[in-house]
Amino acid sequence: STTVSVLVPAAGQGTRLGRGPKAFVRVGGRTLLEWVLEAFAWADEVRVALPPEAEPPAAPANVRFLEGGEERQESVARLLQGARGDVVLVHDAARPFVVPAVVDRLLQAVAAGGAAVPVVPVPDTLIEPEEGRYGPALDRGRYALVQTPQAFFRELLAEAHQLARARGLLATDEAQLVRALGYPVELVPGDRRMFKVTFPEDLALAEALARTWDR
Ligand code: C5P
Repeated sequence: STTVSVLVPAAGQGTRLGRGPKAFVRVGGRTLLEWVLEAFAWADEVRVALPPEAEPPAAPANVRFLEGGEERQESVARLLQGARGDVVLVHDAARPFVVPAVVDRLLQAVAAGGAAVPVVPVPDTLIEPEEGRYGPALDRGRYALVQTPQAFFRELLAEAHQLARARGLLATDEAQLVRALGYPVELVPGDRRMFKVTFPEDLALAEALARTWDR
């Protein structure tokens, strides 16, 4: 049957959050990384990229740690080296709330198409500011916000990363690289609870969600 490797880039410095390396920030009494490791306890392997100076924490037997790179993309490239699953799920450590129904949708979609990511609608009016002033408004209905986990056939993602390296592409997610390869990426409905803890005020929201989260 299909095996799954989860790749967790957790090597960011958390500059915008201002609390040190983000993966080790606590929410509901546990680190963001611990939330993610628990969510993927079922996976065949979980590979985590940590900041260079970080001490690997105690973790379940399916988890391996390695040193991340300067950029998120480099961290994922390193995680991919030596990954063994037929399918890889790339998931930001900064997203502690993994919704099982979304993972189910991703695994179904990836089996059919080779690449799938979760998206959510843009809730606010979306503009392009012009020198600090109100600029043109985009039609928000035409846009979507992209979350993780992102699911790929491992060999497809490896090829996309090779292409990125060869062309010097740097992207904020893996799906961009797969698309650059000319390969279609399926969209599945995401879930707003899978938001990325990025700014200090996100922690209040995360604390509130942690209290009611069904583990
Ligand atoms: O900075 P941002 O919030 O977009 O980072 C997304 C994820 O990528 C985080 O989980 C972060 O730890 C990870 N990352 C990484 N290596 C880097 C930069 C970010 O693993 N060099």
